[in-house]
Amino acid sequence: MNAAATTVRLADYRRPAFLIPEVVLDIDLQSEDEARVAATLSVQRNPDGASSSSLVLDLDEVSVESVAIDGKLLPPERWQADGRYLTVQDVPASFRLDTVSRIHPRQNTKLMGIYTSSTGFFSLCEAEGFRRITPFLDRPDVMARYTVTLHADRERYPVLLANGNCVAQGEEGGARHWARWVDPFPKPSYLFAVVAARLDRSQDSFRTRSGRNVLLQFFVEPGKLDQGVFALESLKHAMKWDEDTYGLEVDLDEYNIVAVGDFNAGAMENKGLNIFNTKLVLARSDISTDWDFNFIDRTVAHEYFHNWTGNRVTCRDWFQLALKEGLTVFREQQYAGDRYSRAVARIQAVRNLRTGQFPEDAGPMAHPVRPSAYQQVSNFYTSTVYQKGAELVRMMHTLVGPAKFRQAMDLYFREHDGQAVTTDALVAAVEEASGEDLSQFRLWYEQSGTARLSVRDQYDETSQTYVLTVTQSCPPTPGQPTKKPMHMPLTVGLLTPDGRELPLRLEGEKTGRGGSAVLSLRQETEVFRFIDVPVPPVPSLGRNFSAPVIIGYPYDDQALQLLLGYDSDAFNRWEAGQRLAMDLLLRGVADRRAGRPVQFPDYLAEAFGRVLADAQKDPAFAAEALTLPAEIIIAERLEEIDPQAVHEVRFAMRRFLAERLHGAFRSAYDLFATPGPYSPDAESSGRRALRNLCLAFLMDLGEAETRSLCVAQLAGATNMTDAMAALAALASCDCPERRPALDGFYAKWKDEPLVVDKWLSTEALSRLPGTVARVRELSRHPAFTLKNPNKVYALVGSFGVNQVNFHAADGSGYALMVELALALDPINPQVASRMVRNLERYKRYEPARRELMRAALQTIAAHPGLSRETGEVVGKALA
Ligand code: PHE
Ligand code: ZN
Repeated sequence: MNAAATTVRLADYRRPAFLIPEVVLDIDLQSEDEARVAATLSVQRNPDGASSSSLVLDLDEVSVESVAIDGKLLPPERWQADGRYLTVQDVPASFRLDTVSRIHPRQNTKLMGIYTSSTGFFSLCEAEGFRRITPFLDRPDVMARYTVTLHADRERYPVLLANGNCVAQGEEGGARHWARWVDPFPKPSYLFAVVAARLDRSQDSFRTRSGRNVLLQFFVEPGKLDQGVFALESLKHAMKWDEDTYGLEVDLDEYNIVAVGDFNAGAMENKGLNIFNTKLVLARSDISTDWDFNFIDRTVAHEYFHNWTGNRVTCRDWFQLALKEGLTVFREQQYAGDRYSRAVARIQAVRNLRTGQFPEDAGPMAHPVRPSAYQQVSNFYTSTVYQKGAELVRMMHTLVGPAKFRQAMDLYFREHDGQAVTTDALVAAVEEASGEDLSQFRLWYEQSGTARLSVRDQYDETSQTYVLTVTQSCPPTPGQPTKKPMHMPLTVGLLTPDGRELPLRLEGEKTGRGGSAVLSLRQETEVFRFIDVPVPPVPSLGRNFSAPVIIGYPYDDQALQLLLGYDSDAFNRWEAGQRLAMDLLLRGVADRRAGRPVQFPDYLAEAFGRVLADAQKDPAFAAEALTLPAEIIIAERLEEIDPQAVHEVRFAMRRFLAERLHGAFRSAYDLFATPGPYSPDAESSGRRALRNLCLAFLMDLGEAETRSLCVAQLAGATNMTDAMAALAALASCDCPERRPALDGFYAKWKDEPLVVDKWLSTEALSRLPGTVARVRELSRHPAFTLKNPNKVYALVGSFGVNQVNFHAADGSGYALMVELALALDPINPQVASRMVRNLERYKRYEPARRELMRAALQTIAAHPGLSRETGEVVGKALA
């Protein structure tokens, strides 16, 4: 029998009936199989809450042994523990509640609450994991001061950590030890964390601008201290950046980061005790790619930034998740823009949005940035909440400008420090600090779906005026058949036909605006009349991607080439190249489906050739500009998706470019070699990105000479970036060098779990036929296990985004996904439901695949004992 679906609604939010200002926990980790948790809660009736004679605490897989009020054990008839709640009857207005419970860390394969990994005990509480440790009001608007005492075997778990500061520690009988930690900051339970493990430690310090010294400690698997150096540097950079940019200082005496190999997510911002998935903290050039270094740097910063945006000011309830995540992703993006190329950081953020969020927003799980209902909150850690949530903050930043935005942030912290608030608190702070009316802007938090802007223009020579007419619309999404127009910034520029930027002046304005104007859209249709325009201009629309929308304008190829070559806005230069390729890709898909030959024009090769010829100026940008739109982004543009056609047409375009620009790619490959020792800095990683892009294009032609070049690069690589680029190219090339390369790579790296993940992922992402069978084989390989989320993401997650093989016409890819997801579901439902999401958009596909995907979803839906997490996804997909 499947667990009944219960829906939690924002409209049903009620303040908690009780508050718990103090928590004292004694956690005795007796063995991997069992821990005893004694909790002492100071409980008070909430004067602002509903009155209730019984206290109802959340509970999940915890067995409660005893309950006492003010030191007196309660008889069994005064309390009941069912699977989800501990109910204590007839409680006074203010009292001390003592509970003693048992938990089973090793059996905890969901990895929520306290669980074991190879090096010891770890915890993860966001969003609702604390209730798996002890009965509690496990909701973020209940904030408490925590004192935690941990007991464990001294030899096996020498490191004992919790939030805050260690105030006492000692030895105890039976070769055990203990440590007591006090966190001075009241916090919601989702930020609680403990660790008891065998780990190596490295130590550093950070001097804040007010002159306090903060102890920084990194804890990693024994023998891996060298791999923590990079992240430790990132942490210091992030601390400095937040002081410089937002005036925010670290508020703790001690800041600890712990790495763990078994982790559901990337990393977690627990107060003073961040816990990181090893893949997002451990870095060394021979085993980590440039991408890994970049991602680690940003993630360390992201978790640190949460200390203010998330921890000091937290969320009232889980519908407000974007309050902390959207804002923190935006801050992370600003940090990355400052540390790397601003344009490249923006391009990558937008690509992310288009590959992850736009499809989500057009599917059955579409939800507003602030959802109004969910069944399982774990299903709402989505691209919409994170990425689109960040875009909303960015739009406010664009609308009011950086100085006012900073004032708004100051105000936000002044007013809400120590509180649990809603997304509206942030919008209201921006509104108050800037004087801008954001009442209509708030709709962005409530309406789902990707808005479209249809832009039309008209130039009048006699009056020298240029009129832009912008009409917005937003397609229906689940539960939202019609939408209201939203308030958004549209940043535009105008170029002359020879590529010069025109000064902008709107009718009625006394002075011009320089080269870029932030137009504010509010009405469904807005008309902007530019005066003193001497020539018919080419519009550059949505500079720096000023709003998370799809902009439609009838560009011809000449206009796009002009923008690609001359736009002063780097993002829109890139965007012009993407549009140029996209138009031709869409035409190609239509031709192929109609049985016509697929051909590409010379101007495409010429335009890409010019980008390549210009690459010296900014190799990282060139690498982005030469990357064709991803298959999923192309697919998104089609009425009905035929993934095979999309794949073949895109591949044909790659081969066309590789043939036409063969010489240029080949010489760029030599020219952009990175001299000197490896460094993951922006400049040298940009050179590697471009060089490896050239290799990948050439490898699509599969010539023997290129193959030897590729094999030589793999064999001679002194860094993982170059090795992986060569391996990935070989993995998608049907040639004799392929299998030995993949097997050799595994043999070389089989003892480095994070590199094994790269190998699994590379195999699963291959474009070649036979990949379904290979993934099935690898799912039984000794290197693979369903119990480790990283292994699942590497193999099954990568396979799920392999557009050509997951969507194999015979349905074998879907069948494999069903098999693996159902095997995973009882082990780790949160990860399983993410895998199942690869099937959710079945209605978008051509009839044969649509039917196969629907059947796959139905098989899952009918599975006895399906988890609530997966049940929500299949239920919504099939609705
Ligand atoms: N809050 C984490 C972050 O974004 C993500 C996360 C969610 C981690 C849920 C664990 C569990 O930084
Ligand atoms: Zn976050």
